[in-house]
Formats: sequence, structure tokens, C-alpha cells
Amino acid sequence: MDAGALKQLWRDRKSSLAPADTSGVWRFREMLPSLKSGHDPITLREGNTPVYELPRCARSAGMKSLRAKHQGMNPTASFKDTGMTTASSFARQEGFRWVACASTGNTSASMAAYAARGGMRSLVLIPEGKISWGKLSQALDYGAVTCQLRADFDGCVKVLNELVRRKPIYLLNSVNPYRLEGQKTAAIELHEQLDWQPPHHIIVPGGNLGNSSALGKALLEMKDLGLISHLPKLSVIQAEGANPFYRSFRELGGKTLLPLQADTLATAIRIGNPASWKKAFRVVQATEGTVEQVSEVEIALAKAEIGSDGVGCEPASAVTLAGLKKLVTQGFVKPHESVVLILTGHVLKDPEFTLHFHRGDLFAGTAHEQAASVLAPQQRAPLVLEASVEAVSATLDRFERETSGA
Ligand code: F0G
Repeated sequence: MDAGALKQLWRDRKSSLAPADTSGVWRFREMLPSLKSGHDPITLREGNTPVYELPRCARSAGMKSLRAKHQGMNPTASFKDTGMTTASSFARQEGFRWVACASTGNTSASMAAYAARGGMRSLVLIPEGKISWGKLSQALDYGAVTCQLRADFDGCVKVLNELVRRKPIYLLNSVNPYRLEGQKTAAIELHEQLDWQPPHHIIVPGGNLGNSSALGKALLEMKDLGLISHLPKLSVIQAEGANPFYRSFRELGGKTLLPLQADTLATAIRIGNPASWKKAFRVVQATEGTVEQVSEVEIALAKAEIGSDGVGCEPASAVTLAGLKKLVTQGFVKPHESVVLILTGHVLKDPEFTLHFHRGDLFAGTAHEQAASVLAPQQRAPLVLEASVEAVSATLDRFERETSGA
């Protein structure tokens, strides 16, 4: 099938009511490995996520315009669903009763949901105390056997890898090839939404580096098939405290990666030994993108700015805007160029971070406390008032005075 026929077929499926066609992943099934006949996909109608204009963020980054594809608008509120629908479907086809993952939270929430939908049991290994309550509570409600290990994410991966060697459990970490295949569809859907005109830049957060690898694979495949005429530059942003890929790319020419002890409040990307770094390096190089790192305070500021555009996201997603600002300053991104940020998780994934940010104590007692003073204009602590019109009205007047001219 040629590129034009594929585009038409995918457009036509939008008016179909068949479950596989209403999924924003399986609608593009010509780009995916196929299930055997008689096997239906496990779908929660994932994908189909919006592309938003971010005018305030554009101004703050020094760009003429800026867009974001919000993968947090998936059924379990993160991009993981696009890969979980494919991988869980293949797990069921192969007859597994149990699936398992190590996770910083989102993979476990997504896996638990898809396992439940597909009639499989799920086992979750997560670092104790280092994932947000929102994500943990999702895994519990979807019925996963949830183990909080006294280890970080990298420690959880080690235990899981050994466990799946001993027991008939299907591994659903992002090294699973079917997950990467499903995650490719975000890039395909994005280009359909842009009428197949590639942006100059796509910017994505980097943790275990499965997502960047998947998006890059999709870009290269789309170019090969003639679906797009040229490649966008794919750039990956990491948190300074969890930056092994940044160091590998900038300091070691991508030849090796030195694992490190990761630490960041963006817990989704608190990963020191990313599994897919070689694949990610290859696609960043092939698309002529780059890798950047951003500080904790830069992440917090960017997250509030994305919120101020009425969109919001979880901390790990906000590294994209923080990274863009640096890339504009460095001249790697030009103000008139088109840029799409990939927002990976929903703002409600980590409300604790958001509340601490607005109350002003997110960085209290940390090395970032002084640098965090720049955040004050973005902070909106909730107010406790007498239940009177006068009290509320006086607050409004004070707010008007304080922000007039802003
Ligand atoms: N953003 C969010 C919200 C994530 O949950 C993750 C990864 C990433 C970005 C990074 O993506 O690992 O493909 O480079 N979360 C994984 C998890 C590790 O277990 O939920 P990546």
C-alpha cells in the first residue's frame, strides 16, 4: 500500500465503530505487528490524544508559537497506554496468566489496567516511597499485586529480571518490543494531526528511554514509507539529577553510558541506568536532535507555566518546556521554528508536587531553596477565609491590585 492509500485508510477508520478502529493505536495497525486471527486487542480506546497550542509557554520560551501533544489524556493518564495495549494483547495471545513490571508509577498503573481488562493477573514492583500516590492508587484499584521494594527503580528492575527467569511471568517493562511498537503510534497520530507536515522539532522527556526510541523509530519508518518528506529533530531532556543519557551523549559521544544513583522530584524519570539508551542515541543522532538537562527549579517553573496555559502535566513532562528554553537560548531551536512538546503524564498524576509548589515548600530544606525564589510569581497557595462576601471580595480586590499591569 502506498503512503497516500495508508493515510486515506487511517482517516476512513475514524468513522468506524469497531473497537480496534476507535483505538488511536490499532487504527494504525499496518505499522504494528499483527495478532493472530481470532485474537482481539485489549483496548481502552487509548491514543486519540489532543495537540494543544501553548501561547503563554511560547512567550516564556521566546518562541513565536508552541504546541504540545498531551499523552496524559490517555485512559490511565499517561503515554504508557499506547504501548500497553499492544504488549498486553500479545501476552494474552501467548497464554500468560501473569504479567509484571518494575515501574516509577505510570507503567504499573497502565499495566494493571490492561491486565484487568484482558483477564490477566498483574505484579507491580515499585520503589518504596518514591512514586506518587496517584499512580500507586491506580495500580491498587485495577487489582495489581503491588510490592513496594526497598530499592530504587533500577533495583526493582534487577529483581524483576531474575524473577521472570524463574517463573512463567510475562515481562512488560519497556524493553518489551511490543510496547515500543505501540508507542510509535503517538508520532504517527501527531503527524496526521499536523496534516503530515513534520514540525522542526519534537521534544520528549527521557527516563528509561523507551519512549524516545519508539518515537524515533516511528519517524524513521514514516520517512521510509514516504508518509513524511523529511525528519523532525528529536531531542531528549533529562533531569539534572537523573542525567546518565545526557552525560553519555554530551561527554562520551554515546559510546558508553555510566549508570548513576538518580534523584529528582520528577519521580517518573528517576532512573540511573536506562535500558534503551543505545536505541535512543541512534534515533537522536539519525534525526539530528540533541540531549539537554534541566534543574529541579526549572522543571517546577515549567510545570506551572504549562498549567497556566490551562493544560497542565506531571513534573516529568515539564522537562520538555524547561529544555526547550535552554535549546532556544543556545540557538539550537530558532524562535520561528515549529516545536511539539510531548507531555507524557496528566497533571493529576502527582498532586502532592503541585500542592507543595503552590504552598511554597517544595524545596524547603533542600539545596534548591535559594534558587526556588524565582518561582514566587507562579505560586497560588489556597486561601482560608471567613465565609463572607466581604472577605472574598477584599481578596479579589487585593489580587487585582497586585497583578494589575502583569
Ligand atoms: N514521563 C513520564 C510521565 C513517565 O512516566 C516516564 C517513564 C517518562 C516520561 C520517561 O519515559 O522511560 O520511556 O524514557 N516512566 C516509566 C514508568 C519508567 O515506570 O512509569 P521513558
